[in-house]
Amino acid sequence: MKFIAVLPLSELPPGSHRTVKAGRGSVALFNYNGTITALEHACLHKGGDLGEGFIQRLDRGALYVACPWHGWQYNIADGRAPEGYLDRQAVFEVRVEDGMILVSEKPVVSTFRAVHEDERLADLRNLDYHTTPDSLHVLGISATNMNRSLPRPSTSETALQAALDFAASEYGAETRMIRLRDLEFRHCEGYYSRHEEACTWPCSITSMNPDDGMSELYRALVLWADVVLLATPIRWGNASSLYYKMAERLNTVQNQITLHDRVLIRNKVVSFIITGGQDNVQGVAGQLNAFFSDLGFVFPPFNYLGWSRGWIAEDMQHNVSRFMKSRYVKRSVKELVTNAVQLLRQVKRIDSSRMQTPKPKISEAGGLTEQDADLI
Ligand code: FES
Repeated sequence: MKFIAVLPLSELPPGSHRTVKAGRGSVALFNYNGTITALEHACLHKGGDLGEGFIQRLDRGALYVACPWHGWQYNIADGRAPEGYLDRQAVFEVRVEDGMILVSEKPVVSTFRAVHEDERLADLRNLDYHTTPDSLHVLGISATNMNRSLPRPSTSETALQAALDFAASEYGAETRMIRLRDLEFRHCEGYYSRHEEACTWPCSITSMNPDDGMSELYRALVLWADVVLLATPIRWGNASSLYYKMAERLNTVQNQITLHDRVLIRNKVVSFIITGGQDNVQGVAGQLNAFFSDLGFVFPPFNYLGWSRGWIAEDMQHNVSRFMKSRYVKRSVKELVTNAVQLLRQVKRIDSSRMQTPKPKISEAGGLTEQDADLI
């Protein structure tokens, strides 16, 4: 077996690990417990660099490296995944000669990748759309938060329910309401920030935990809805924190355009209900429009209903009753729905396969490549 010199021993002190070039590929070297070991550096999941991983002690004290992207673990001596998993990372033989670390040109233990695709996510993975040329599915998303055991009247959610009821009674729509506060879901954990390929569809968090509450929202928003009506209160001049928590988890939808020029949202319409005791309706609408446009939604004319009573309207005890009595709200809820349904009928006729995405793509990113960086 041919061996390749990859690194002076002095550059891999005890208790350290790193990835180095080895011929045409790269290996992750580990110097722990007085032994140097080498694994294929690219994680079997999505290719995270194990040389940047975290050393953990599992299985009665054995040392494992946890991938820095999503945490898959491999024994640093034999490449095996922890008990209960069949995966095995490729292992290279290591020699130390004249102060140099050498690794075998070929692995002495080959890679095995078990099947991990969770059947519960098959519909998301395969994009099994429930929309048809004739469907009229109206999804309401309520972004207001409240104490479940002490519920209070919500202006945004009341208007949203009225809009869904009107869509059903006037247009025969199938309707559904998702209250974000009822979904137990994790914050976006920023995998994209480490490497663009670490942000996946289905979402990395959903793949790790199919029971995460966003799975329900992904299904409803991406696969089921024709029209989305999103209702949010105004909090400190912005949409609610729950809205932003959801929006961050929708990176996975937008990133498919950036990474793979793949548009998941096709022929869907969105409108908004934005209510607050104080103002900034237009500012919130601008934020929502910009975000949903980036996902691929289209907007009817006049696509938001706003309610606020102004800067000095601190008498919140009067806000709900005035809202409930407002002729403007009653009328504009219906008009919001009508505009959305009318636009949807047009949008359904568009050949979405010809849709263009004039957005930044990773293939056009202007930064340094890793090879460029190595040359500097
Ligand atoms: S766990 Fe390694 S790339 Fe996902």
